[in-house]
Amino acid sequence: MYANYQKQFEDELKEIKDAGTWKEEGVIEGKQGTEIKVGDKTLLNFCANNYLGLASSDDLTRAAKEALDKYGYGTGSVRFICGTLTVHKDLEKEIAKFFGQEDAICYTSCFDANTGLFETILKEGDAIFSDELNHASIIDGVRLCKAERFRFKNSDMGDLERQLKEATSRPEKPSPPAPLPSADAKAMADKGGEGSKYKPRRILIATDGVFSMDGITAKLKEICDLADKYGALVMVDDSHASGVLGKNGRGSIEQAGVMDRIDILTSTFGKALGGAGGGFTAGRKEIIQVLHQRSRTTLFSNALPPMITATALYVLQNFDSKFAQYRNQLEENTKYFRGEMEKLGFTLGGDGKHAITPVMLFEEKLAANMARALFEKGIYVRGFTYPVVPKGKARIRVQISSAHTKEQMDSTVKAFEEVGKEMAIIK
Ligand SMILES: Cc1ncc(COP(=O)(O)O)c(C=O)c1O
Repeated sequence: MYANYQKQFEDELKEIKDAGTWKEEGVIEGKQGTEIKVGDKTLLNFCANNYLGLASSDDLTRAAKEALDKYGYGTGSVRFICGTLTVHKDLEKEIAKFFGQEDAICYTSCFDANTGLFETILKEGDAIFSDELNHASIIDGVRLCKAERFRFKNSDMGDLERQLKEATSRPEKPSPPAPLPSADAKAMADKGGEGSKYKPRRILIATDGVFSMDGITAKLKEICDLADKYGALVMVDDSHASGVLGKNGRGSIEQAGVMDRIDILTSTFGKALGGAGGGFTAGRKEIIQVLHQRSRTTLFSNALPPMITATALYVLQNFDSKFAQYRNQLEENTKYFRGEMEKLGFTLGGDGKHAITPVMLFEEKLAANMARALFEKGIYVRGFTYPVVPKGKARIRVQISSAHTKEQMDSTVKAFEEVGKEMAIIK
């Protein structure tokens, strides 16, 4: 039977290659770090989410080993059957305290936190307003729910307000609702249900705290102001900002002064706060309780492995005393690298506040070829092309870590200069 389909898949793979969007997995031997070994090459790694260098830290590895001895390898269960250990409850308490929220629930990833969120708390007759640059996990999570969808232009508060106004100025839904002719009912269902005719019952604005492909920070204060004005809940995915931004590393929500104004925070332990995995949703206590009861990615998926749970707890408990200090180096490194690249004439994305430093190349093939040429010079970075970024916005996303040395950054800048000149990207 498969023979009938093989050609279809082969053609699809060829299309990806022809478009220059083929993603080659570089296989690292040994540990994650600023210097890695891929095949027979030793490379400087400038594309990890390992912002504070914790992914292979001896300190975290020791904490993980201790947890392995104490709790064993796995739970063999989802949370509500017999997969909840004391360490899960301890982590959830610590997450809530650390991020100034009422309660929290942990997931095996932030992707799961996001896909398990929207359909749990929103239904037909509700509305979700989502930034166009939100992470794929928000997009997929939103797709799963029956709420009416509004997509606003990236950080465009005028566009968001225009759409909020449109939805909230509709008539209240009559009770019981008038029956719709079946053709109309189908059209409505495709557009997010009957809600598209009436004022939504529940409104949620969803945004990344830092947009992952661009490294720019969301306008969270303005979003919270609009939410107050139009009666909306606010959800922030702070995966790239938790442990990075804000006076105390609590993220973009701290930087914007809205820790007590948002309703839902999702984030990951897979980036600055450890680098292994694990995610969570924090926020209003009733919402968190509803997630425990109904969120499908916790009800139907094994609990976060205890070793990761305990290590995440270790990171949060020791963040202020041990790890927060790395943020100064991260900031200094980010500033230095950006400055040197700008001097060379590269077009950089981002606002310079975050360690994500996109080197804009625009053309798909150019980004892929440049990443390949840099690889040959011993620099490991990736070309980001469609569908990861919009067509015509291809780039190399450089990510700085506090663990990068000045020498490593200088070598990388030099390689960019050489390749940039060879490819006539800079003069
Ligand atoms: C904004 C954002 N949200 C969610 C995720 C998913 O996080 P995790 O790796 O924990 O699933 C990512 C990871 O790339 C991200 O950048």
